[in-house]
Amino acid sequence: MRAKLERDFDRFKRELPRDFPAHVRGSYRIDLTARYLGELVPHPIGKGSGQLSLNPGQLEDDAAAGLAFAVLKTVIAEDETGTQTMAAWAIHETKMKVERRPAGAGRAGWTVSWKGRGWDRPFAEYLALVRAGRDLTRAGRLLVVPSVKYHLPRLAEPFREGEYRYTTAQLAGVWREPPLLVEKDFSPTLAGDALADDRPQILRWLREVPARIHAASPIPVRIAVKLMNARFDDRFQSEMMNACAGADALVCWGVAYGGWELSDRNLRVLETQLTPGASPGFPGSVEKLTPHASAGIPEITGTGNICSGRMILEYARRGCESVQLHTFFQLPLSEYAATRGSRAQRALHALVFHPQDGLLAGMLELEARGALERQSGELRFLDLGAHAHRAG
Ligand SMILES: Cc1cc2nc3c(=O)[nH]c(=O)nc-3n(C[C@H](O)[C@H](O)[C@H](O)COP(=O)(O)O)c2cc1C
Repeated sequence: MRAKLERDFDRFKRELPRDFPAHVRGSYRIDLTARYLGELVPHPIGKGSGQLSLNPGQLEDDAAAGLAFAVLKTVIAEDETGTQTMAAWAIHETKMKVERRPAGAGRAGWTVSWKGRGWDRPFAEYLALVRAGRDLTRAGRLLVVPSVKYHLPRLAEPFREGEYRYTTAQLAGVWREPPLLVEKDFSPTLAGDALADDRPQILRWLREVPARIHAASPIPVRIAVKLMNARFDDRFQSEMMNACAGADALVCWGVAYGGWELSDRNLRVLETQLTPGASPGFPGSVEKLTPHASAGIPEITGTGNICSGRMILEYARRGCESVQLHTFFQLPLSEYAATRGSRAQRALHALVFHPQDGLLAGMLELEARGALERQSGELRFLDLGAHAHRAG
């Protein structure tokens, strides 16, 4: 297996087979099938919302590269008059800066800094992008999902229903066939805004927003709530996850430091969620925090500092059924071992086939250690979380 992996890594430097999950299944008896927002996808690696999903050309490249899914840049909700209560987030992006960022213990990481926040062009242009995404999704080439920042009121204030209704109805009108899949982005709000200092307010948002979106949609909708680490402690992070019971999926990520601090924290919080009682600092309600079992959240997707297949495994073993990357698709070309193809293709090559740090190498190693078993002769990506949970 090891020799085969080295050979594949070497020959795929020039070109990754479009249907690499089929190759992996045939050659290694490894089933990479994963799940994002209730949809089965051929492998777990998708693109997170941001600057890399702003136009149809980027989506086309991602489909050609074989990414499993792509989340569009976050649009700011508006009502039928064009009013956006969250307008402050629709600011123009300045240039992004990709930098190496060292973090203790000799670990090198990457971080991307940028000033912009949400989609800053007309909503009609966003709908055209959603239409392009819908066509790719229907053709089975790439699952594309829009991302929205809806109005978040102060505790005493009502939600702006008009913005929820209009924005969701427009997206549904373009998508047409149910279910509509939507990511709700909480991230910059929880990190940077004065409103985000108030914990009861945050918990109210997380509890109520999924129901608002459901009520606003003319067709059935599935919602992934993208949670950012607030500036509070891990315990509150767990409370936030618990408050999201109305969501269909959670996207977990961290504060804007990026790099290892982000993934360390994400993994720690996920671990506490998945292994009740593991942390004596988390009394009482933690017992019912197991996301799959009781909080009613069927699915978690991981994001933050994923630059290797091994890191995908870290998230998967804590219950994530897919992952969303951004930074790793932005590195200087010299950082990828592959010599041809788009960044998405080169990234997939490294993430899946790297003979030491790739997903396949990691899964084979878990098998050798007795930590992952074959089912009907196959190792299955989706077994990773269940297995870790049993072990925990
Ligand atoms: C330049 C940039 C823009 C981003 N814009 C958004 C956004 O509009 N909405 C959102 O939900 N996440 C956004 N993100 C977060 C990413 O989707 C991702 O979750 C995060 O960067 C962590 O993953 P990474 O370490 O692989 O970059 C952005 C990230 C970057 C670097």
